[in-house]
Amino acid sequence: PKITYVAADRAEQTLDLPLGTTVMRGALTNDVDGIVGQCGGYAQCGTCHVFVDPDSLDKPGEMEPDEDDMLDFTACPREPNSRLSCQLEVTEALDGLIVHLPERQT
Ligand code: FES
Repeated sequence: PKITYVAADRAEQTLDLPLGTTVMRGALTNDVDGIVGQCGGYAQCGTCHVFVDPDSLDKPGEMEPDEDDMLDFTACPREPNSRLSCQLEVTEALDGLIVHLPERQT
């Protein structure tokens, strides 16, 4: 499934990620700047914050309460389209997802 990351400076990178990884891990293993992922993917650090593009808002599933809670503590304030990319598991349903990266994660 293809995931597009748009940096704060609008530079775009599209990756074809394997099923079962996460949007956070896909970024880290492919050197996408702008995602930190300090806690390793446990919804405990908020440094994998992304904004889901309005055109692909229907792709990710509902968030769990721990993600919702952690989103209140991100470096850049949350928006209605905020998600923690470590909680976005790559599935076929995610193909075509576009995420925007915040200006900072810490
Ligand atoms: Fe820590 Fe996502 S990697 S909250």
